[in-house]
Amino acid sequence: MTRTIILASGKGGTGKTIVTANLGVALAQRGKKTIALDADVTMANLGLMLGLEGRKTTLHDVLSDEKKMRRIVYDGPAGLKVVPCGMSLDGIRKVKLERLKKVVAALTKKADLVLIDSPSGLNHDSVTALASAQELVLVVTPDLTSVSEALKVKIVAERLRVKPVGVVINRACGGDVDLPKDEIENVLELPVLVTMPENVEIRRAAALGESVVVRSPKSPAAKAFKELAAALLKSKVAKASGGE
Ligand SMILES: Nc1ncnc2c1ncn2[C@@H]1O[C@H](COP(=O)(O)OP(=O)(O)OP(=O)(O)O)[C@@H](O)[C@H]1O
Ligand SMILES: [Mg+2]
Repeated sequence: MTRTIILASGKGGTGKTIVTANLGVALAQRGKKTIALDADVTMANLGLMLGLEGRKTTLHDVLSDEKKMRRIVYDGPAGLKVVPCGMSLDGIRKVKLERLKKVVAALTKKADLVLIDSPSGLNHDSVTALASAQELVLVVTPDLTSVSEALKVKIVAERLRVKPVGVVINRACGGDVDLPKDEIENVLELPVLVTMPENVEIRRAAALGESVVVRSPKSPAAKAFKELAAALLKSKVAKASGGE
């Protein structure tokens, strides 16, 4: 059964898009048919991070019912398939987000895993994206505000019958400023799948539209993304969402 996993957070800028892109590449490298979908319909940037900016047909066109599904799945790095979202203001205006669930359902027929890059927070866009998935991975930075906001997302996910599977701690600096891993696990009542270091190579690769997993495969960052892929594949597969 295809797994649909959303990467979400309460706080903005925790690294959802970076994690979606690089985890997607790491899963594809393991031979899993993986699609990464940008569901941040107003502030899209997954395509940009994977060198797919400026594609003519995007998720916007399908959500506004102007184009067919098969035209929005592009080849990304290492065999990862990518569905970029449009960036134009006109495109945003025409989007009918209630169609997202159907788009995700159609993508599940083409993949083993569908990763969904969520907008941050708990607003109409992010909750609609959340409801389109079966499983949730929370991306937090190791500080109390990020973790407490992630807890709200987890609670909403459970109400929507989306199964939280674990946490990615991102941008960890080490030392005593970071909220400890066991405290994060206690607050969120979820296992930490990986602790991702603050690492300039991640930003450098993203700025070039590349994945750090491909660009610097031996770097600590690439290793952490591969570890995350392995941990995710080991985590239990959720039952189909019983939403609507
Ligand atoms: N581990 C890391 N080390 C260094 N830089 C990072 C790391 N993770 C993310 N970044 C950088 O932090 C910024 C925010 O990351 P990203 O866009 O993935 O966050 P986001 O959660 O998707 O943000 P938004 O809520 O706006 O969608 C980017 O410039 C990214 O390159
Ligand atoms: Mg993002």
